[in-house]
Amino acid sequence: MIDLRSDTVTRPTPGMLAAMAAAEVGDEQEREDPTTNELQRRAAALLGHEAALFLPTATMANQVALRTLGRPGRKIVAEERTHVLIYEWGGPAIHSGLVMQGLTALAGRPTPEQIRRLEDFGPGSVLVLENTHRSSGSRVWPLEEFRAAVAAAHERGAAVHLDGARLFNAAVAAGLPPSAWASLADTATVCFSKGLGCPFGAVLAGPAETIERAWEGKFLLGGALRQSGVAAAAMLYALDHHVERLADDHARARRLADGLHGGGVPVELEAVETNFVGIEHGRLGLAEEEAVAQLRARGVLVGRLRPGFLRAATHLDVSDADVERALELIPAALGAGVRA
Ligand SMILES: Cc1ncc(COP(=O)(O)O)c(C=O)c1O
Repeated sequence: MIDLRSDTVTRPTPGMLAAMAAAEVGDEQEREDPTTNELQRRAAALLGHEAALFLPTATMANQVALRTLGRPGRKIVAEERTHVLIYEWGGPAIHSGLVMQGLTALAGRPTPEQIRRLEDFGPGSVLVLENTHRSSGSRVWPLEEFRAAVAAAHERGAAVHLDGARLFNAAVAAGLPPSAWASLADTATVCFSKGLGCPFGAVLAGPAETIERAWEGKFLLGGALRQSGVAAAAMLYALDHHVERLADDHARARRLADGLHGGGVPVELEAVETNFVGIEHGRLGLAEEEAVAQLRARGVLVGRLRPGFLRAATHLDVSDADVERALELIPAALGAGVRA
């Protein structure tokens, strides 16, 4: 099987497992885990913030951020298909008492005008920006557009949280450090279990005082661990070994997109900026379940990107040979014709 469902399907490499086995550990709740402390120090520096906090998942990092920045009864605003609005089980409302509002925006990027026009948006409210933006095809926010959106929210007195689950993909694709975007936001999440290949782990970065308050949310949600250094060691290993190689995933996604297009499969060519390829199954007359089943029968697993689009994601466990094989299997499985 060629597993293109998501970049979350990777398994720890032998080098990563060795780093985990060798991790020096202590009690994280007492802030005595040296490997976790080192991860937090490095992550804060990489994200251009004073401090960072280890959390088991990016979902928890987002929820802790919202609880720390927002006030019950105020709003969380984000593009309508942002992860925190539709895939986190109503967490902003449940954990933080926030009113959830989605905005329709091109490529997942709300504009300053949209933000200036928002009703009931000010101190205690939070704008969430996602970079890369998952549902639009893991697209990258141009830095100046991001800066303008953040400024518009700050003008209103609201806080800004960056869900940078795939921020390293954005950084590698744009040739910028992750801090370029993260330092502009009040808090930033980065996930290590996606393109970076860890079994789990995320960090939340922000000003020291904000991160100190975020510890409360970490305890409240049950994310304060004990010997978390085992995970932190994998994350440090990923920072050293799995960041620059994201460029390979991006090149493979580009090759896959171009090849599928050539093979008559409708793909969102202009949206391929990092490691996702969106396949528009409806244009081949196939319902989502049919397309997924036909691909599975031929040995290719794909995921869902958004309604109407399947996701083929490249990652650590997808080789050039897998891409070439997928280019033979996918058009045949979907009954696509060769494009002239
Ligand atoms: C943009 C985005 N944010 C957050 C998450 C949540 O990550 P986790 O599974 O670590 O909670 C995901 C996971 O797919 C994601 O795509």
